[in-house]
Amino acid sequence: MKWFAESDQPRHLISADQFDREDLERLFAEAHTLKGLLSWARRGDNDALRKWMELSARGKKFHLYLTFYEPSTRTRFSMDTAAKQLGMQVSQSENARQFSSGAKGESISRTMENLRGFTPFPIAVVRYDEVGGAQQAIKGAGMMPVINAGDGRGEHPTQALLDCFTIREELGSIDGNTIVFGGDLKYGRTVHSLITMLCLYDEMNFVLCCPEELDLPDEYFDVIEQSRNKVRVIRNPRRALAMADVVYWTRMQKERLPSDFGPKRYKRLRREYRIDNSMMDVLPPTAILLHPQPIDSSQPKLAEIADEVDRHPQARYMQQSWNGVPVRMAIFLAVIEQQESLRKNGQLAD
Ligand code: NCD
Repeated sequence: MKWFAESDQPRHLISADQFDREDLERLFAEAHTLKGLLSWARRGDNDALRKWMELSARGKKFHLYLTFYEPSTRTRFSMDTAAKQLGMQVSQSENARQFSSGAKGESISRTMENLRGFTPFPIAVVRYDEVGGAQQAIKGAGMMPVINAGDGRGEHPTQALLDCFTIREELGSIDGNTIVFGGDLKYGRTVHSLITMLCLYDEMNFVLCCPEELDLPDEYFDVIEQSRNKVRVIRNPRRALAMADVVYWTRMQKERLPSDFGPKRYKRLRREYRIDNSMMDVLPPTAILLHPQPIDSSQPKLAEIADEVDRHPQARYMQQSWNGVPVRMAIFLAVIEQQESLRKNGQLAD
């Protein structure tokens, strides 16, 4: 056990490399129970409804600070929903780069140092626009736990948790599967965290399907090599898709591309790395298509996943998104539990 191991430090969540398989199994079991409760409560089952209401006592004392320096829909709303369903108080700065003191030059660590003193039971979620933002936040956080909700082109570990949870639910297990990663593997932080996490499993086959300009950074090839899983690059999407158990397609991160990338090249690559229903035909019948979303359909004919694919039975990215709530509830419960035990042992004097 790594993330769940006993420690006198808060249970921060900064990188996918903080986990081992035992941690994942424990977290996924909790998320699975919560998901079951959620769906029975939705159907009006009285027992589930009662248990659901009891959950809102678990987080009552805690106050969550959602500090987002970059845009977000799913991560922010699912964190907000998860926290409120556990009875937590939530405050948020949804555009902290513009509307928090970040705009006035305040460092993220000093912002954290301020927040941590506002309430006896604080937890912070940070989405930052530079690699290492959440790590910097810890410096000012004292005993307040910090959860990384994306740091520039770095990592997005809570997304990786819900991605792994989804693969496990949809396919029954993770070991031995062929995962095709497509789109922008260079700047896409969800890919970085997910590859790191999937490397905890055995006999994985990673297929990387992207243009050369958007290749996976070397450090993640090293992670794969050390895990003894297999990796190959197949640039042609049709060939890659035909091999998949899971396709994990991503958006070209246009906000992170270098300024000399050029609009023509950008358009050409978007056309080449696009999935529509005719592409879905080459997928093996038991394979699933995931995407962390958002899908960029600002120019519908260039969207990396065509609208028509949404209704395809093998497209599972909405289920994936919905899993964000139970998985993040499980994360909060683990963080709360550890804070409570630190407090009981008198280790939270700050
Ligand atoms: C992603 C992100 O912000 O990294 N979205 C998410 O959190 N689900 C992916 C993206 O922006 O393309």
